[in-house]
Amino acid sequence: MWDVIDLRSDTVTRPTAAMLAAMSTAETGDDVYGEDPTVHALEGRVAELLGHEAGLFTVSGSLANVLGVRSLVAPGQELLCEERAHVVRAELGAHAAWQGVTTRTWSDPRGHVDLDAVRRLMTPDAGPYMVSTAAVAVENTHNFAGGTVQPLAALRELRALVDPVGVRLHLDGARLWNAHVATGVALADYGRLFDTVAVCLSKGLGAPVGSVLVGSAAAMAEARVWRKRLGAGWRQAGVLAAAGLYALDHHVDRLADDHAHARLIAETVAAADPAVVDLAAVETNVVLLDVGDRAAGLVERAAAEGVLTGTVGPGLVRLITHLDVTAEDAKRAAGVLAALVRP
Ligand SMILES: Cc1ncc(COP(=O)(O)O)c(C=O)c1O
Repeated sequence: MWDVIDLRSDTVTRPTAAMLAAMSTAETGDDVYGEDPTVHALEGRVAELLGHEAGLFTVSGSLANVLGVRSLVAPGQELLCEERAHVVRAELGAHAAWQGVTTRTWSDPRGHVDLDAVRRLMTPDAGPYMVSTAAVAVENTHNFAGGTVQPLAALRELRALVDPVGVRLHLDGARLWNAHVATGVALADYGRLFDTVAVCLSKGLGAPVGSVLVGSAAAMAEARVWRKRLGAGWRQAGVLAAAGLYALDHHVDRLADDHAHARLIAETVAAADPAVVDLAAVETNVVLLDVGDRAAGLVERAAAEGVLTGTVGPGLVRLITHLDVTAEDAKRAAGVLAALVRP
C-alpha cells in the first residue's frame, strides 16, 4: 500500500522535527508591545535579505499583500497586475473590500510583466474623472501561470518605466525563494526593485504559518498599525517566527530538489502525451497539465491512486512539489499521472 502524495499545494507541508525543536526553544515576548526578540530577528533578517529597511511578520501571504498594497494605493486609486495574479484572483477581493482599491489587468501566457500593456494602461494623476494608477503588482514566481519566473531585465525596465511618473511597485514574492534558487539571482536584486515585497514562509520553505512584508521603515510602521487595526496583531509569535528562521537556514537551497521533482513529473507526463504539458514553462516547483474536459476525471482518478492534485482553471490541473515530496514520491506520482494522460 502507498502513502498519499499530496501535490495540491506547497502549503500542505508539516513542520519537521528539527523545526518543531527550534520553535519549542524560541525566546518570546509580546509582539503587540514590540517585545518579541525572535519576531524582531525574523523581520530584520528578511528585510536584509531583500535589500529593505524593515519587515513585518504577518499571519498570511494575503495579509502581507493587503498591507503592502495598502501602503502604495489609496482608496479609489488603481493597482495594475496580470489577470491571474493572486492579488486579484485569489484573495477574495480583499484589496477592494478592505481598502477600496480598483484593479485593471493585462494578460500574459507566462504571467510575465508586459511592459507595453503597463505603458498603455498606466494613468497616473488621471485628474478629477478617471481612476489614477498608483501601483503595479508583480508575482514572482507566478503561481497560476505555473510557477514561472519573471525575467529580471523586464523587472528593471518596469522600474525605469514607473519611476518618472511616481507609480510604485509591489512584489507578491510568495515563492520568490523558488525564483532565486532557479535563476541564482540574489533575493536583494529582486527585492530592491520594489517598494514593498511580500514573501511566504509557509509554502516552499515549510514553516507552518507566516509571511513577511518588507519595505521602508516608515511604511512598515504604518503597516504595523493597520495589521493591528485588522485584528491581526499577535502576541508570543516568536514561536512561529522561529520556524521561519529555521526554514531560512535549512530549506532554501533544497528548493532545487523540488524543482528537479517537478521537472521529472513534467517530463514523464510529456513522454506519455506531449500535448498536455509545456515543458518550457516548468521552471520551478509547479507543473500545469492542460487536459481540457478530462481535468475533473483526472484529479479524481489520480486521487484514487493516492496522488492528490487540484485544478486552477478550465482544463488545467496543477501539481506542486514541496518538502514532503521525496524523489520516490515524485517518481510514483509521475507514473500514475503519465498513465492517466496517455491518449
Ligand atoms: C502567489 C501567492 N501569493 C499569495 C498567496 C497567499 O498566501 P496565504 O495563503 O498565506 O494567504 C499565495 C497562496 O497560495 C500565493 O500562491
